[in-house]
Amino acid sequence: MVNNKRSIDDLNVAGKRVLLRCDFNVPMEDGKITDDVRITAALPTIKKLIADGAKLILCSHMGKPKGVDETKSLAPVAIRLSEHLGKKVIFAADNEVVGANARSAIETLTDGNVVLLENTRFRAEETKNDPAFSKELAELADIFVIDAFGTSHRAHCSTVGVTKFVSETAVGYLMQKEIQFLGNAVNNPVRPFVAILGGAKVSDKIAVINNLLEKVDTLIIGGGMAYTFLAAKGYEVGQSLLEADKIGYAKEMMQKAVDKGVNLLLPIDTVVATHFGRDAEFKTVDSDAIPSDWQGLDIGEKTRELFANAIKSAKTVIWNGPMGVFEFENFAGGTIAVAQALTSVDGTTIIGGGDSAAAVNILGFADKMTHISTGGGASLEYLEGKILPGVEAIANK
Ligand code: 3PG
Repeated sequence: MVNNKRSIDDLNVAGKRVLLRCDFNVPMEDGKITDDVRITAALPTIKKLIADGAKLILCSHMGKPKGVDETKSLAPVAIRLSEHLGKKVIFAADNEVVGANARSAIETLTDGNVVLLENTRFRAEETKNDPAFSKELAELADIFVIDAFGTSHRAHCSTVGVTKFVSETAVGYLMQKEIQFLGNAVNNPVRPFVAILGGAKVSDKIAVINNLLEKVDTLIIGGGMAYTFLAAKGYEVGQSLLEADKIGYAKEMMQKAVDKGVNLLLPIDTVVATHFGRDAEFKTVDSDAIPSDWQGLDIGEKTRELFANAIKSAKTVIWNGPMGVFEFENFAGGTIAVAQALTSVDGTTIIGGGDSAAAVNILGFADKMTHISTGGGASLEYLEGKILPGVEAIANK
């Protein structure tokens, strides 16, 4: 899907203005970046364009501001980028994003130097994919490159609209890497192929479950979403997360697994707690014996062993969503056990972005995985089998 798209290796950028859309939507606390993986992931493309003598204009969104919001400025990203690159990244402070300040910063930009625009979402038009703002962005540049895998599921001005008004477009290295890993795993997996899905809600993963059941040998379901499946089996789930309106869907998916010969694994035991809290009283019970006034917050020890055995014998594993409330020490055991099992896989291990990437990073397993995606929603949509508009919009070779 991405191999047929023009890449930065197909461009001649020397002396040209290149607008590079990155995903610098990094977590911030009190004005400080707490995790810069998305910034470092963009460096190979940025360095290549600098080395090739582009006049480089970077852009990104940050958060979901309603208009101009100082706490969501990209200024701290310019500083962090300058540190990583060992050269100054000029920050074009401009509430209009493409206003007088940004234009004058770009006019004086020399070959191999870099400007970062302000948060594209300071302009309300951005998320509406409004042609007028798309055109303003396009007029800044001769060439548009997208490397914002994490935002490529959004058809916004800076990801899709802009491509209509620039004569040359291409994808960057991060985009290629993400899609190669995810695409190979889903469409051409070395078997056995195991997918692990967790996280709170079935409703977030409906299309993913349906699509992956067409592809995998084993589908493991844990996390909050498992309780809707347990309810579909007729079990009492107490105060656990339950989407009653998705019980019918869960039944349908269990039948689909049988029809397709997919081994569907659900938790056989559960760590239940008196309430949702770090210090809540807890114990492990079988999944068909959850007391009516307790709630499940993690998979139990027997389930960890069951899941780990299925994972260890796999050649390709995709994991999206934690097994329990891993932010609370008492309920992190299931997620840790799954991460540990992944480290002993003799094959490819891919972590979907978002919470599972955060879990792997926080728990210290990041360097043991083959690929950790920088896209939460985007990787999920890719696993659903959807076409990502940000990739689709780029010219073919
Ligand atoms: C993400 O963090 O998933 C991406 O940056 C996209 O952000 P969004 O969900 O605000 O569009």
